Amino acid sequence: MHVLVLTGSHRRHSNSSALAEKFIEGATTAGHQVKRFDCALHNIGGCLGCNFCKKGDGSCCQKDDFALVRQDILDADVIVFASPIYYYGLSAQLKAVIDRFYAIDEKIHGHKHVYLLLSYADTALSTADASETHVRAFCQYLDWNVKGVVRAHSLTAENDIQGRPELENAYAMGLNLAR
Ligand SMILES: Cc1cc2nc3c(=O)[nH]c(=O)nc-3n(C[C@H](O)[C@H](O)[C@H](O)COP(=O)(O)O)c2cc1C
Repeated sequence: MHVLVLTGSHRRHSNSSALAEKFIEGATTAGHQVKRFDCALHNIGGCLGCNFCKKGDGSCCQKDDFALVRQDILDADVIVFASPIYYYGLSAQLKAVIDRFYAIDEKIHGHKHVYLLLSYADTALSTADASETHVRAFCQYLDWNVKGVVRAHSLTAENDIQGRPELENAYAMGLNLAR
């Protein structure tokens, strides 16, 4: 399967990106084709709501790095969202990419599986509720199937996640991708 991993952290030794890496390791071991796109390391503006994309061929009026990931979103059988939790939601850089789905909205409905990998500082598992609810809501709208969620709590500094069992959970999800 074609797997696209969208990460949301800008940090070099990011906890959520470590989850993404483990997922990728598992999926690659299982023979899937995996691409990773680090949203925070690219220049992608938020949707302007101008509807330029609805008038033409679906291209955006903003000529930025979304063009680099657009085709991979269309081609993906599986999309992985890996993000730190910022104020109970996904990072703004990842959300900007999600909002830009608007330009290809009609083309991406249906037939995708989704995995959500979250890291955050709070000790309570429930801190991830709002982020997961949000992702489940837009996936329901797009008719995408949320197949797995990893919530890695109590992580503050870079690399805090080393040695944590959630890494193995992410690896197992990648390894066991099902159609
Ligand atoms: C702007 C900002 C907002 C944050 N908001 C929350 C929050 O609402 N809840 C929480 O538990 N942690 C919050 N955190 C902590 C991060 O989610 C946590 O450090 C996470 O593990 C970082 O992931 P990363 O290493 O992948 O960047 C916030 C951190 C920043 C910088």
